[in-house]
Amino acid sequence: MDSVTEPKQQNMQTIVISLITGFFIWILFTFFQKKGEEKEEHNQNIEKDKTDTVKEHTKKTFKHAKFTKKASVSNFSHSLLSVTLKGHSGKVLGLDVSINGKYMASSSDDRSVRLWSVKDFGAGNKCVRVNVEFDHARFARFSPDSRAFIAGLAVENTVRVFKLGKNNDGVTTCIPIEGDFVKYNQFVASCGWTPDVKVWAVNFTRSGEYKDVTRAFELKGHTTTVWSFDFNNDSTRMVTVSKDGSWRFYDTGVEYEKGQEPYLLHTGEFHISDCSIDKDFCIVALSPDARVVAVACMNNIIVFSTASGQVEVEFKEVHTEIITALIFDIAGRYILSSGDKHVRVFHNVLGYKETIRELEEKIRPIPSASSVRERYQKQVDEAKKSLNAILKIK
Ligand SMILES: *[C@@H]1O[C@H](CO)[C@@H](O)[C@H](O)[C@H]1NC(C)=O
Ligand SMILES: *[C@@H]1O[C@H](CO)[C@@H](O)[C@H](O)[C@H]1NC(C)=O
Ligand SMILES: *[C@@H]1O[C@H](CO)[C@@H](O)[C@H](O)[C@H]1NC(C)=O
Repeated sequence: MDSVTEPKQQNMQTIVISLITGFFIWILFTFFQKKGEEKEEHNQNIEKDKTDTVKEHTKKTFKHAKFTKKASVSNFSHSLLSVTLKGHSGKVLGLDVSINGKYMASSSDDRSVRLWSVKDFGAGNKCVRVNVEFDHARFARFSPDSRAFIAGLAVENTVRVFKLGKNNDGVTTCIPIEGDFVKYNQFVASCGWTPDVKVWAVNFTRSGEYKDVTRAFELKGHTTTVWSFDFNNDSTRMVTVSKDGSWRFYDTGVEYEKGQEPYLLHTGEFHISDCSIDKDFCIVALSPDARVVAVACMNNIIVFSTASGQVEVEFKEVHTEIITALIFDIAGRYILSSGDKHVRVFHNVLGYKETIRELEEKIRPIPSASSVRERYQKQVDEAKKSLNAILKIK
């Protein structure tokens, strides 16, 4: 794909700085981050008793039975659907975007990871196909410098690193780096079946090497299992969704080293068509600017604002199977989901609306002949222009 260009060095520096200052927080997997059949493979790494395994199995069967009834929709359409990315011949299991905002990686059980150019979404479904030999990737994650990605292999339970490069014709290539690492259990801890989320900070040395992991804080307040959680772009906000039917939005930009606890900023209940939230697994995604939350349950998605809690839009029957991944792109322009062979890319219209609303609130008290006001007004105008362009495309 000619249009994918080399990541720039400056991105690396930003990230390294944020790592040193300890802002880069990683969460360890809760048990529920793993889904469906992947759960079973994962069990060997997580201490669990037999009762849990039985429960899980029943749930899986139940879901499947319920789902086959309506698994025939393949012609999904919606006015906010930007594009459907087609290319995989098997189910897409994971999605990730690079921090430089350029790439999106989709990993599939068709033994490939595909790299898409975010800028060119919809330009003829062009992508770079990366073969995952002898296995398939359950997930792909870009490195902080956007120059490589790791693939978590499903069968071997190892990590394979692929380096991004370019061939002589300027086409993006991905080369596996020698040998697979038996690694990704190192950071895995179980806190499944609990209402709390334990957050750990990963410490790096000045040269960017891994140093240690320390417990940062816990998010408490749900009355039962937390299904899923997500961060904004600098880990200063987090959102959780629980089997108790509620979502919680936290300020996590606290001095946890000094014992400060995250603040709860907003909480609310959520309802999704055809989902019984107390039974069906949900996935949550928080936009990089923390203004928008998307929650997926079965094959439906709802989108709401963290400020008001009000649902802006519901996308129904987006995939023919249960949604496996839900993310925002780095710029917060799109919401992406996977669940079958396709990746759906939606316009994050609420993101634009919330940006406009917040900026207009900021502008109101500012005197009219001020350069600050002018700057904000320019941002408002730009956001309005983008929003109108999207809404007209209908
Ligand atoms: C990193 O290590 C330093 C020194 O040991 C410590 O003061 C700091 O709190 C640690 N930060 C994180 C994020 O663990
Ligand atoms: C999808 O296809 C089905 C049957 O082929 C049809 O009944 C339905 O109206 C179509 N839906 C859309 C959104 O095109
Ligand atoms: C996070 O997003 C906000 C709002 O879009 C942006 O201003 C900020 O620079 C981003 N921060 C990082 C670390 O990417």
